Formats: sequence, structure tokens, C-alpha cells
Amino acid sequence: MKKILVTGGLGYIGSHTVVELYEAGYETVIIDNLVNSRIDALDKLKELTKKDITCYIGDCRDKELLRKIFKENEISGAIHFAGLKAVGESTTIPIDYYDNNIGSTIALLEVMKENNVKRIVFSSSATVYGTSQEVPLKETTSLGATNPYGRTKLFIEYILKDLYKSDNEWEIAILRYFNPVGAHKSGLIGERPNGTPNNLVPYIAEVAAGIRPFLRVWGNDYDTKDGTGVRDYIHVSDLANGHVLAIKQLDKVHGLLIYNLGTGIGYSVLDVVKAFEKASNMKVPYKIFDRRPGDIAVCYADPTKAKEEMGFVASRGIDEMMEDHWRFQKNLYIKK
Ligand code: NAD
Ligand code: WQD
Repeated sequence: MKKILVTGGLGYIGSHTVVELYEAGYETVIIDNLVNSRIDALDKLKELTKKDITCYIGDCRDKELLRKIFKENEISGAIHFAGLKAVGESTTIPIDYYDNNIGSTIALLEVMKENNVKRIVFSSSATVYGTSQEVPLKETTSLGATNPYGRTKLFIEYILKDLYKSDNEWEIAILRYFNPVGAHKSGLIGERPNGTPNNLVPYIAEVAAGIRPFLRVWGNDYDTKDGTGVRDYIHVSDLANGHVLAIKQLDKVHGLLIYNLGTGIGYSVLDVVKAFEKASNMKVPYKIFDRRPGDIAVCYADPTKAKEEMGFVASRGIDEMMEDHWRFQKNLYIKK
């Protein structure tokens, strides 16, 4: 059976997608350089899928390694997660972000082309909508990025569009994720941020676990129901399933497809705090701070296109997202 190459497959979203792919009957080969993941994720994936998954530890910018992977495996297409993803960090080391995110994509596309494998699913982000306040955000909303990380995603989208224009044998799905949270039901895989978390839910989890004294709520003077920022949180397993559907959609519709992957529901920071407290039965103390530079008030998806065209529905609600997130985090802290 041909395999799907999953770059960054030991990371947060990649690992959940590997599980969903095996559940749907696909097989995978992983490449990951462990810059933001740990090798034990591979053992967990083997445990969850009961398969001996092939994984190459190395850099996706390394074309010789990619050639070796294509030589040693029959590859039908790639899902490209590998990349750096922290917005704040991207403003301090922009060259690393451009080099890694764009460099890995170019290397991958070149080696795919050499092997006449022309199917790719790319991890884009709602960040490509920039500061647009035209909610809910549709795939047709105008694009613009406000930081180096976002610009890498936007540039890669343009690279893929240009590639498709030059050769329409390519089959490309650009998936724009909203705010992934939660973890696999088993509690075996989840997100393990290095250092201080930037994202809301990982930070809340560390407050609930007593690792940090309180949550800093970035602003309560937005034009939202309680003044705090509103986002579209999506369970990582629902998001992972979106990749399986995208692969299936490319079987049916050969072309360049763009989908938002979100729930279409916005929750405020304080809604999330409340849901997390309920799920964990722990207190999450917080203090209000000034707005975080670059943040927008409200961001949520119009998920209609993904639903109508490929049957994508993010069915897990906020309570389940928080319960699953906490189950994984709690296991980590207990084992420490
Ligand atoms: P992650 O950091 O957990 O996973 C990325 C994986 O790629 C890691 O395992 C890392 O070690 C690996 N990697 C990075 N650079 C590599 C390289 N050059 N060669 C090989 N492996 C490399 O991040 P994630 O949250 O799973 O995100 C996956 C993708 O989705 C990223 O492209 C990210 O930009 C995008 N995305 C993430 C979010 C989010 O909030 N998590 C939102 C929108 C888009
Ligand atoms: C959510 C809300 C904060 C932390 C980022 C990237 C985006 C995408 C997803 C990759 C906001 C508030 C947060 C905290 C807080 N990633 N907050 N205190 O900013 O929507 O999106 O991650 O593509 O590109 O920008 O997510 O989780 O950081 O913030 O009050 O300690 O929580 O102000 O309203 P964001 P987030």
C-alpha cells in the first residue's frame, strides 16, 4: 500500500493526524527533526495505531534525506506540518522562520516533483486573514499577515497557488486552522510546549496545575460580550480528521482547494477559563492586563465550505476540548 508522507508527524497536530489516518485505513511515513517534539511520541503512535510506523529523524530541508525517503517508500502524497509556529518568536528570529517554513516547503515540493508525486495538503492558518474583522472569516476574505510567522504561511499559500497555475496536475489542499486545543482521548498524545506557553489553553493548564500562579488575560476592553478576546477553538482530533477528509476530497476533485477548519463558534477568554475549571475541577486564577500587541478582538471561521464540500464537521464541544486537554496535561505533571 502506498503511504502518505507526514512531515512534522511527531508534533501536536501531525501526531493526531497520523492516528486519524490509520483509523481511516491509510499508512504513513513520518519525517521530523524533533525541533519541537520528542521521540517518545513515536512510541505512543505505535501503541495507539498498533502499527510499526516508519519515521525518519531529520530535517525536511534536507533534499537528500527526502530523496532517500521517496526511494525507500512508495509515497502517494504528503501532508506538510513541519514548521516553526510561535508568532512572538518569529519576530525575534525571522530568518529562522523563513528558512525553516519556506525552505522545507520548497525542498519537499522539489523532491515530490522529481518523483512525480503531486499531491500535498498544507497546514495553513487563520493568521493569513491578518487583522480582518469581517467575521465569520470565509475563504474569500482578503488576506494579509502581520508577523513573520504569518507571512511564511501566506507566502507558502502563494507558492502553492503559483505551482498549481504552472502545472495543474498538482492536487493541493490548503487548510486554514483556527485555534487547535485538546488532546487524543487516550491521554497518550497532546501538545507539549517548550518553555512558557504563548497560547491560551496550554497556559491555563499550567495555572491549573500550579506551575504558574495566574493567567494574564490580555485585555478586557474589546467589543465582545465580556470584553476579552474571542476565538474559534477546535479539538485537535476534529482538526486531524479534516486532513483525512481533505485527502479523500483530492481523490474526487483534482485541483487546488482551500478550506477553513474551525467550528464556527467563538468563545471568549473567560468562557475558556470557566470551561477549563469545570473540566479539571481546579481553580484558574487570573488577572487582567493590557491588550497583547497584534491581537484582534474576534476571530472565528465560517466553516460552511468544508462542511458542504467535504463533509467536515467539528463535533467536539468546548467542554470535551478542555477535558481532553487536561487529561493529557495532568498525566504529564503526575509523571514528572
Ligand atoms: P508542532 O511544533 O507541535 O509540530 C511541528 C513539527 O514539525 C514538530 O514535531 C517539529 O519538530 C517538526 N519540524 C519543524 N521544523 C521541521 C523541519 N524543518 N524538518 C522536520 N521537522 C520539523 O506544531 P503543530 O501545532 O502541530 O503545528 C503543525 C503545523 O500547523 C505547523 O505548520 C503550524 O504552523 C500549523 N498551524 C498550527 C496552529 C496551532 O495553533 N498549533 C495553528 C495554525 C497552523
Ligand atoms: C487566544 C486568546 C489572547 C494567552 C495564535 C496564533 C495563530 C495560530 C493560533 C498558528 C487571545 C488570549 C492568550 C494568555 C490571554 N497559530 N490570551 N492570555 O492569538 O488567537 O492565535 O495561535 O498558526 O497564528 O496567532 O491564540 O491562544 O495565543 O490567544 O489572555 O496567556 O487568548 O489575547 O484573545 P491566537 P492564543
